[in-house]
Amino acid sequence: MTGWLRIAGLGPGAEGMVTPEVTAALADATDVVGYIPYVARIAPRAGLTLHPSDNRVEAERARHALDMAAAGRRVVVVSSGDPGVFAMASAVFEVAETEPAFHTLDIAVLPGITAMLAAAAAAGAPLGHDFCAINLSDNLKPWSLIERRLRAGVEGDFAMAFYNPRSKARPEGFARVLDLLRDLCGSDRLITFARAVSTPDQSLRTVTLAEATPQMADMRTVVLLGNRATRRAGRWVYTPRGVS
Ligand SMILES: C[S@@+](CC[C@H](N)C(=O)[O-])C[C@H]1O[C@@H](n2cnc3c(N)ncnc32)[C@H](O)[C@@H]1O
Repeated sequence: MTGWLRIAGLGPGAEGMVTPEVTAALADATDVVGYIPYVARIAPRAGLTLHPSDNRVEAERARHALDMAAAGRRVVVVSSGDPGVFAMASAVFEVAETEPAFHTLDIAVLPGITAMLAAAAAAGAPLGHDFCAINLSDNLKPWSLIERRLRAGVEGDFAMAFYNPRSKARPEGFARVLDLLRDLCGSDRLITFARAVSTPDQSLRTVTLAEATPQMADMRTVVLLGNRATRRAGRWVYTPRGVS
């Protein structure tokens, strides 16, 4: 039997935000591989083996999935949101790159709705002009690079989405980010904290940088910083289409 590998995004949480393409791949799969909470979103069924694993074992997980596909299994690697946004797609290709036997495998990346887009939609349109996304975790890059990219984003007047803003292992970093942003952008800039978007736990809060505190973010939060023109329209936040 010919195996295949699909690297799929499950969206931010709501069932209605899983694409039909991803649902079809899951229905046809023999194996699902991924971080424990993401695999927990997959309904068990006969003929499907679930392979949940810890967050820190991305390379091992990727190799396991590639090995199973090479052996003829139909494998879906699941990520939350989109698999190409701070998630498993790059991890799979990093392993596939090292082994020519994997280069001929039937591999496809199935996109999903990433957290920043679901959060922006819930808030209004804060990413309605040019924007960028920065992962605030310094697990895979030095802090100096995060700071350089934050400065560059502000210098370019981008709205910005911040993933992985704060965790128990990194309680201090986000406080430093807020201090830096207050220095660079001033205290009136709008910032939205979007937590557990599209789930029953969803909460949305827009404040100024002066009012923002580190405790407003955790690992289930994506943070959206406006550009100079971002403003409120009643309970909505939006960035105009034109900026002079
Ligand atoms: C490792 S990244 C994975 C991102 C994912 N691949 C995506 O495209 O959304 C995890 C971070 O995504 C953000 N995130 C994921 N799901 C979210 C949700 N439902 N609501 C708010 N933020 C979310 C948080 O910033 C979290 O710390």
